[in-house]
Amino acid sequence: MDGVRPMVDMTTQLATLTLPNPVLTASGCAAAGRELHQFFDVAALGAVVTKSIMMRPRSGRATPRMAETPSGMLNSIGLQGPGIDAFIDTDLAWLAEHGARTVVSIAGGHTDEYVELARRLNGHPAVSMLEVNISCPNVESRGQVFACDAIASSRVIGAVRRAADPSLPVFAKLSPDVTDITLIARACADAGADGFSLINTLLGMVIDTDTMAPALGGGTGGLSGPAIRPVAVRCVWQVRRALPHLPILGMGGIRSGLDALQFVLAGASAVSVGTAVFGDPSAPVRVLAELEQALDDRGFAALADAVGYAHRRPADRLVPEAAEVAAG
Ligand code: FUM
Repeated sequence: MDGVRPMVDMTTQLATLTLPNPVLTASGCAAAGRELHQFFDVAALGAVVTKSIMMRPRSGRATPRMAETPSGMLNSIGLQGPGIDAFIDTDLAWLAEHGARTVVSIAGGHTDEYVELARRLNGHPAVSMLEVNISCPNVESRGQVFACDAIASSRVIGAVRRAADPSLPVFAKLSPDVTDITLIARACADAGADGFSLINTLLGMVIDTDTMAPALGGGTGGLSGPAIRPVAVRCVWQVRRALPHLPILGMGGIRSGLDALQFVLAGASAVSVGTAVFGDPSAPVRVLAELEQALDDRGFAALADAVGYAHRRPADRLVPEAAEVAAG
């Protein structure tokens, strides 16, 4: 770095939605942005992705709900939230007032609940996109992890796509806990998904060796943080290769601009910074600055030119400036 601010066009496109930059929060890690706003202007991000909201207020799972793991953490929140009415009146109103672009994550116990949530959000000026969370691992029954089954996924995504305002992109948030994520992605695409959020947490467990019982009140939890980054990058890579025309919002253990760059090169048009904010609340804006610098260092004039770059044939891969970086 020579102290000169890089001049990279960081705008990005998530289906019909244009964002000024590709760094977003991750659902469940920044509530509705209010707490992060003490550290930076949330309107400076590409968008705020809100904690998955359900129809009714929900208290979530038994405590403890978090456990440390090597290079990550487990959460077992259980979709705690205020319910859609309070969310619209308080959180969405606050985000609109602060000029933040907002991706609303919705979650339901059955297809009709997702449909009703989409309808309630129709026409709200603060909503830029819907992220349909069909992959929360912290639910009573694995049958509710719709994203583990292609038919269940397509049913939910198709119903939401039909119910939602046609101008709002509908992204399916998928689980890595499947044999072939591209089969689920294809089913969602056929049902009308406009893109994908990849990935949700992996199902995990920690046993407390003092109590000799599961550390989390809910038993199992969702694993996030740098430990899952290679899994997430692999999922982005596979879905990009299978469905290159659909945009991807990538996430999973992003802590730095170079981490974000891996996702972009694998095929993500934007990234969400999640677990990192618990230790460093300013991580999203830092990651954005670092990503811009990393793109500039490699000779990219625009983020869009780097999306999916790692899929190029080796002979087409190195831009001259990147060759210099690689050569040191
Ligand atoms: O438990 C939770 O609220 C987590 C949700 C998710 O990972 O989608």
